[in-house]
Amino acid sequence: MRVTFIHADGKGRTEAEAQSGDILLDVAQRHLMPLEGTCEGQMACSTCHVIVDRQDFDRLPPTSEMEEDMLDLAAGVRRTSRLSCQIVLTPDLNGLTVHIPPESRNMQVPH
Ligand code: FES
Repeated sequence: MRVTFIHADGKGRTEAEAQSGDILLDVAQRHLMPLEGTCEGQMACSTCHVIVDRQDFDRLPPTSEMEEDMLDLAAGVRRTSRLSCQIVLTPDLNGLTVHIPPESRNMQVPH
């Protein structure tokens, strides 16, 4: 299956091959996307924050309350923001597109 990462500059893109069962954060890191994932999926950092493409957002399982709380602390959060460490890829997510958020200290995300 395939996942597309739109780079933080909003222009570049990386097409990634992934397997069902992969964690989105791991796929992103394998393809050198700049997501730190400091807490390694413990929902304690929010450095794995991605913005899911609006068209794909409803395909994802709902956000847990803990994930919502962590997202509140992430920079540049939007309505379709998710923690990539919480997204397990399944065949019905084939073709998923996610945006790497611009770094908040360099740039404000326009809403
Ligand atoms: S890696 Fe820390 S919350 Fe996802």
